[in-house]
Amino acid sequence: MWGISSNRNLAIDLGNNNTLLTDQSSILLSQPSFLVVDEENNRVAAVGDKAYEMLEKTHSNLKPIKPLKGGVISDGDSVKKMLKEMVSRVNNHSWFDRGFNYLLSGVPYDTTPVEKRALRDALDQFTSRNTFLVHEPLAAALGIGLNIQEPEGKLVVDIGGGITEVVVISLSGIAAFQSIRVAGDAMDEEIQDYMRKEYNMSVGLKTAEMMKKKIGCVYAPVATDEKFVVKGKDLIEGIPTSRQISQQELTHVLERPFKQIEDSIHQSLQVCPPELASDIYQSGIHVTGGSAMLKGIKERFSKNFKLPVKVDPAALTSVSKGIGHILSNPAKYRAVLV
Ligand SMILES: Nc1ncnc2c1ncn2[C@@H]1O[C@H](COP(=O)(O)OP(=O)(O)OP(=O)(O)O)[C@@H](O)[C@H]1O
Ligand SMILES: [Mg+2]
Repeated sequence: MWGISSNRNLAIDLGNNNTLLTDQSSILLSQPSFLVVDEENNRVAAVGDKAYEMLEKTHSNLKPIKPLKGGVISDGDSVKKMLKEMVSRVNNHSWFDRGFNYLLSGVPYDTTPVEKRALRDALDQFTSRNTFLVHEPLAAALGIGLNIQEPEGKLVVDIGGGITEVVVISLSGIAAFQSIRVAGDAMDEEIQDYMRKEYNMSVGLKTAEMMKKKIGCVYAPVATDEKFVVKGKDLIEGIPTSRQISQQELTHVLERPFKQIEDSIHQSLQVCPPELASDIYQSGIHVTGGSAMLKGIKERFSKNFKLPVKVDPAALTSVSKGIGHILSNPAKYRAVLV
């Protein structure tokens, strides 16, 4: 059974699309960052998987909420409710009352003081002796297994759901970065847009995401003619309809958002100090975050940047593993606690 280990530390990766709770040794919970609220009584009707399943299928009383956008909190009240429910699922009540020793939460590197404040507010509902934020790209680097404390520069690209962050890490800090609010969600919206314009077909966000996960590809030379049957609604006739879309076609659709991501890598390499750039020439690009699973990333980046490219095989869990790793020795990682 899942439960929090005895020294009561908890790491939260509050992601735009997925929230993971971890202690210093293992992942305790991994759920979509969604909730459904019953508007009649303002109660939470579902959280996580159940809420995601209900997305775009609820009736008028049940309101589905995605409380993060662009990787940051857009609805503070809903985040509080969602976290409360998720933490209570992995927590033992007596510990809950006594609180945590360390409570750490990831936060994108490029966040405003107001966005950080919203996160601290959501964490304040839990009793904890030491509450800190950790910049997600640093946590991701640790989760991948990189040594962030040494002076050798490392380039980490975290392509999540709401935000892409590109950072050059050295001596536990960030020497250069680019951050754009373009990631998996923007790709799903691009797919919806394309289906609407090209085929007069309205498809749900979940369908668009599924299509991207199944046949999404970002590099034409590796795209196949594999097909995905998309079901949606004909916008002219108003009736259910379906269409086959090939991987080659989808590669073309994903080009615009993906090019923006690639441009941000170019920009961070341009502003990177020369000594660190020479390190990166050796160590290459480390790609993580759920959207790193898109087909063709490795081939495309290798060709365009002429650097070694390492795609994280556990791209959905790097940030949470990294924050969990910090929990195992908070004193060692003091420099990265915010
Ligand atoms: N196999 C896959 N192929 C392509 N994209 C995928 C795949 N699996 C997941 N994704 C995408 O990864 C994204 C979620 O990744 P992740 O969990 O790293 O994001 P997050 O941490 O919740 O968001 P953020 O880091 O922006 O706050 C979603 O957009 C999802 O569609
Ligand atoms: Mg993330």
